[in-house]
Amino acid sequence: MATNRTFTMLKPDAIENGHMGKIIDMIINAGFSIKAMKYTQLSEAQAKEFYAVHAERPFYGELVEYMTSGPIVAAILEKDNAVADFRTLIGATNPAEAAEGTIRKAYAESIGRNAVHGSDSDENAANEGVFHFAANEIF
Ligand code: CMP
Repeated sequence: MATNRTFTMLKPDAIENGHMGKIIDMIINAGFSIKAMKYTQLSEAQAKEFYAVHAERPFYGELVEYMTSGPIVAAILEKDNAVADFRTLIGATNPAEAAEGTIRKAYAESIGRNAVHGSDSDENAANEGVFHFAANEIF
């Protein structure tokens, strides 16, 4: 059964381009409530670990460099059917393929600098949330 939480990061390009507030607004307006949130910068070790599943991909080095290049916002979000509904809200990984009205359509620069992360399964959502937040930072 689907759980009702997912995990997101607003990525360095979204912050750098001044889109943090507008993206958080879109998330709240879509019916998600914020259960944890922090403004932080990933270390190289954290980014490598978070994206370890992509370690063999040709873009891994570029991805780690980009994700550590500036601050991010990490958050745990709650809503019925959270993982699937959030992936619908953010749109396709490649903004050129993202639907009208999605966060990536509005704010992503490219497939690499794509503004926002959304967990792709309930299991990853739980693991990614715990990766970023201590128990007393989750509400
Ligand atoms: P995300 O879905 O958050 O997690 C994996 C990330 O890898 C993805 O967002 C993109 O930022 C990045 N990514 C995926 N495919 C490519 C690619 N072909 N080139 C560069 N980066 C990519």
